[in-house]
Amino acid sequence: RMPIILDTDPGIDDAVAIAAALFAPQLDLKLMTTVAGNVSVEKTTRNALALMEFWQSDTPVAKGAATPLVRKLRDAAYVHGESGMEGYAFVEHARRPLAEPAFEAIYQRLQASDEPVTLVTIGPLTNIALLLTQYPDCKDKISRLVMMGGSAGRGNFTPNAEFNIAIDPEAAARVFESGLDIVMCGLDVTNTALLSPEYLQQLPGLNKTGRMLHALFSHYRSGSMATGLRMHDLCAIAFLVKPELFRVQNCFVAVETHGEYTAGTTVVDLEGRYAREPNARVALGLDVAGFQAWVAEVLALAP
Ligand code: BDR
Ligand code: CA
Repeated sequence: RMPIILDTDPGIDDAVAIAAALFAPQLDLKLMTTVAGNVSVEKTTRNALALMEFWQSDTPVAKGAATPLVRKLRDAAYVHGESGMEGYAFVEHARRPLAEPAFEAIYQRLQASDEPVTLVTIGPLTNIALLLTQYPDCKDKISRLVMMGGSAGRGNFTPNAEFNIAIDPEAAARVFESGLDIVMCGLDVTNTALLSPEYLQQLPGLNKTGRMLHALFSHYRSGSMATGLRMHDLCAIAFLVKPELFRVQNCFVAVETHGEYTAGTTVVDLEGRYAREPNARVALGLDVAGFQAWVAEVLALAP
């Protein structure tokens, strides 16, 4: 099984991605780390722990950065609700995050692993930027970084910028400049990664995970229950297990950090206009039917 560390800001589509990371038989989720993004890091950590309790998972959770590297947090409670995972009453429990902050926890797990680990990020890149700054030697143990973030076209937070990159452009820039092997699953594919209204209707009958997700989905505003919901974060997990569903192109990607209107834009040089070495594999196309079939398969494996 492929060892992975998942950095997340749950987040309703994050919750689905976490389910897939736990129950896809090909994956071995070693650690989950939280970051401020969709809501505050207090809330994303509470949500991550609530999910671990829901699934009775032993995966440790480490709490990450409370704010972007240099900017103020602007959240997405308008998409995911006040709590970040609005719509389901999770039970009380006594779980706590690890004592060490996310970037320390990631470094320790990397050092302890005898094989390179895949980092998967489905929130702003703050924790990974801190890791790279504090521990530049960590790169030897990272086989690649697969992210949900960015766009080669339009944005979903500002006209040109996708949310995860727009919240912490400085962190994203550091990651893209790091030399890591990066796979970028941006809006070009995630906007097409829909769960169909027909499938959404079947979810409550599937299992208790399906009932919980269905309850969250009624509050989630990326797409609609009637026309289909966008599973942005789930694309990063799908890429790990089913890379053949994606069409990717090697490109140079720069993150704009200065523009008054364009900060957080991923400038994806599809035509090689800057004549720079590619630093990312950018997903540009998704086999949507294949994606939907895989989602149904994995969620059926959950309790
Ligand atoms: C990204 O923004 C968040 O709201 C989602 O969880 C996803 O990670 C999509 O732009
Ligand atoms: Ca997310």
